[in-house]
Amino acid sequence: MISAIVSVDTNFVIGVNGHLPWHCKEDLMYFKKLTTGKVVIMGRNTYESLPKGALPERSNYVVTSKPIDDPNIKCFDSLQKAIEAAESDKIYKWIPKAKREIFIIGGQRLYEEALDRYLIDKLYISYIDTTVDTSECAYYSTFPIESVLKNKNIIVSTASFCPLAKANEAIDNSDLIALLKAVTKVANKQKNTDKNLLAGFVVIMGLIGVIAIIAIPFFMFKPHISNTTPHHHLEVKRL
Ligand SMILES: NC(=O)c1ccc[n+]([C@@H]2O[C@H](COP(=O)([O-])OP(=O)(O)OC[C@H]3O[C@@H](n4cnc5c(N)ncnc54)[C@H](OP(=O)(O)O)[C@@H]3O)[C@@H](O)[C@H]2O)c1
Repeated sequence: MISAIVSVDTNFVIGVNGHLPWHCKEDLMYFKKLTTGKVVIMGRNTYESLPKGALPERSNYVVTSKPIDDPNIKCFDSLQKAIEAAESDKIYKWIPKAKREIFIIGGQRLYEEALDRYLIDKLYISYIDTTVDTSECAYYSTFPIESVLKNKNIIVSTASFCPLAKANEAIDNSDLIALLKAVTKVANKQKNTDKNLLAGFVVIMGLIGVIAIIAIPFFMFKPHISNTTPHHHLEVKRL
């Protein structure tokens, strides 16, 4: 079985400036528990983002067009070749057939390719309850959520610290769509709140401007009007 594992924020951001945007101990432990003793396949950028290099107690496969000099990893110039090699890896064959699992662990480019080619049987998605500010960063990576919706037979398992689902619960595809819609809704709600705040501010500033335009001439000409009235009144009386 081929699985993908990812953690996302409210906007499906997965990385900023080539690194994980958060430090979530629970998520790291969850990742370790699932992937230990398995083959993990990653893109070159994800490999370069690992703070201590190759992940221990796992077979590390890296997809890259440029071979990397690291005895703890195996390099492949395509995802397909990496998957074929993983299926022959002794670490994979050693496990009973029903429990065999190869993990695609990112990043964006690898998830995109695997989902577009319908290679993923199971998706482990950790929803990190945060919104990463990407406005200042040089570049960032996202999870291709739309492509998941095209994969009708994918099984989704969510992490226990995901506020939208129960612990490690495998759910069918209809629940997946509901979950993804719910996550998207959370993201959109946040965006709409920001937009509404801005719109409210613009309306209030506009109203203050209109009131100022009306009020300024009134205050400027008011003394002049009060001076002429008694004078005019006296003249009428004399006639
Ligand atoms: N939140 C999470 O769960 C999570 C998980 C993983 C990564 N991340 C984050 O995601 C970011 C990295 O993602 P990314 O999209 O920039 O990069 P990536 O997918 O990790 O790596 C892209 C690189 O992998 C190689 N590659 C990918 N597909 C290939 C193919 N089919 N054939 C040949 N080479 C291929 C290419 O390297 P060459 O240029 O060497 O050919 C490409 O430039 C980092 O910020 C990381 O922290 C987050």
